[in-house]
Amino acid sequence: MKRIRKAIFPVAGLGTRFLPATKAMPKEMLTVVDRPVIQHVVDEARAAGIEHFIFVTGRNKGVIEDHFDKQFELEATLERRGKTKELSELQRDLPSAGQSSFTRQQEPLGLGHAVWCARDIVGNEPFALLLPDMLHHGPSCLAGMMQVYEKSGGNVLAVNEVPKDQVHQYGIVGVGEKLGAGFKITSMVEKPKAEEAPSNYSISGRYILQPEIFALLEKQQKGAGGEIQLTDSMLTLANSQDFFGYQFEGRIFDCGSKIGFLAANIAYGLEREDLAPALRAEIKSVCE
Ligand code: G1P
Repeated sequence: MKRIRKAIFPVAGLGTRFLPATKAMPKEMLTVVDRPVIQHVVDEARAAGIEHFIFVTGRNKGVIEDHFDKQFELEATLERRGKTKELSELQRDLPSAGQSSFTRQQEPLGLGHAVWCARDIVGNEPFALLLPDMLHHGPSCLAGMMQVYEKSGGNVLAVNEVPKDQVHQYGIVGVGEKLGAGFKITSMVEKPKAEEAPSNYSISGRYILQPEIFALLEKQQKGAGGEIQLTDSMLTLANSQDFFGYQFEGRIFDCGSKIGFLAANIAYGLEREDLAPALRAEIKSVCE
């Protein structure tokens, strides 16, 4: 079985839901506590053993590339001032030379198209895909999915139960035979109406996919919302390959929504020893 070495991060979206914050700054650079959202997701991928980080960007996203590059002046200044902890943290977070790639999605044609834009960089090997809007809080979700993959092969999607009145916001899967930390996926539909959804298990933005998906994406017709949908190509691939659902144990924050983003800041803040006591007191006093 081929090892998963590469991960795709689609970061081309315009972030219109966060205007005016995202007028001149990519939404992926909004911070949850003191780390940009995209850094949290890269951390999760690295914890799962990913070696190469592929960013599918768009216009006005140059700062993401800068964020994952060395900052000589800053490092020299930190060194001169003896700030060794900050310096080593910066160095730890940086992909090594040659371990990141950036390509552009030239038109906003949908998630399926964004993934297809990375086909040459991925090549003929299975890969991970992480949507930065969705923060999976707790142990690395992708690491848990890797364990499922190592046992079963095929394709693995992280899934999450959502209230029935939210199924129209997500890709929804059909639930088959139970297996360890998840189940066999029997069907998939992108953004169904509540009455047409096969279950209330949503695809939560973490995927392990086989490279055969690229040929399907290449000829994929537009689907929900007039966009080229990854879910539609996965459904076709499911005719010839297995798909497994992996139930993540931690909490998932949809940072594409304002409430999800604010809640993530509270949860990640409360997890920090240096911040939790004071933050708890502040929340209490604000709520009084
Ligand atoms: C995308 C996927 C959808 C998935 C969701 C998770 O939708 O198409 O299947 O459930 O991400 O966030 P989007 O949020 O880009 O509309």
